[in-house]
Amino acid sequence: MVSYKDLGLVNTREMFEKAMAGHYAIPAFNFNNMEQLQAIIQACVESASPVILQVSSGARKYANQTLLRYMAEGAVAYAKELGRNIPICLHLDHGDTFELCKSCIDMGFSSVMIDGSHLPYEENVALTRKVVEYAHQFDVTVEGELGVLAGIEDEVAAEHHTYTEPDQVIDFVTKTGVDSLAISIGTSHGANKFRPEQCTRNAEGVLVPPPLRFDILEEVEKRLPGFPIVLHGSSSVPQKFVEIINKYGGAVKDAIGIPEDQLRKASKSAVCKINIDSDGRLAMTAAVREVLATKPAEFDPRKYLGPARDWLKELYKHKCENVLGSAGKA
Ligand code: G3H
Ligand code: 13P
Ligand code: ZN
Repeated sequence: MVSYKDLGLVNTREMFEKAMAGHYAIPAFNFNNMEQLQAIIQACVESASPVILQVSSGARKYANQTLLRYMAEGAVAYAKELGRNIPICLHLDHGDTFELCKSCIDMGFSSVMIDGSHLPYEENVALTRKVVEYAHQFDVTVEGELGVLAGIEDEVAAEHHTYTEPDQVIDFVTKTGVDSLAISIGTSHGANKFRPEQCTRNAEGVLVPPPLRFDILEEVEKRLPGFPIVLHGSSSVPQKFVEIINKYGGAVKDAIGIPEDQLRKASKSAVCKINIDSDGRLAMTAAVREVLATKPAEFDPRKYLGPARDWLKELYKHKCENVLGSAGKA
């Protein structure tokens, strides 16, 4: 049993209190490897932003949970070495069982998500409550979810969102005791969040997706004043990365994300945590493809993973400084 407090990590409680009062959102960036983690820490130290490091169950399988935890511990020391002791939370993204959440809590995670959003309501409540009861003994914070995000990449339940039902949120938060709530208001996971035919074109010919359901967010805020809300699926899918990927042999088709102005608006509301994974994947892939295509004789991984790390760092800094408003808040 390892306490996150001994690793220099923090839970989300104070982060979210400050984000709510200061009208900004904390970035929650997923990581699976060293270069991603280096880029996140460099960017957040340079922009003086608090940060949530997210580990999905897929990341855990890919990289090993123990290794990822030591990397997060190392990230705390690395941030200090770079000159700023920023608040760093280590969070389980989309935990799907009590056992997975418990295992992460027992080995040093400071926050977990239990995602029961696909379950019938009462089962979601019971599972989430069980995780909260365990987590709170160790001062670990818990994120729950109500409503289902559409995912064009998913095999099932794909095309349509089940938006969060505002009339359920008080009952859910009261019965479960969660510290934050992820809601469904039109975002979705992956790089294909909207189909082109769902979008309109602006004067410059750029595709503009339908706006998020801020009316639902407002109804949730009315029922849970001051309660931290989380947005998943919040990558903006920068077209410059999609173009580079496709220019150098990629086939990322019809990739459309959440416009940055929508995320800026959400950051000023009760949304305290914004999840970004796909944008990092696109930046990294674009950099690697460009180097390999333009320098075909190169075979030192540092020569393509190094530029990928630099592109990632610029992306993360941009999120903190120009979108989420978390820069300068560490
Ligand atoms: O919400 C899902 C995250 O983007 C993590 O994705 O399960 O492929 O690691 P993953
Ligand atoms: P994106 O796929 O939009 O980056 O969302 C990531 C996410 O929600 C992780 O939980
Ligand atoms: Zn998610």
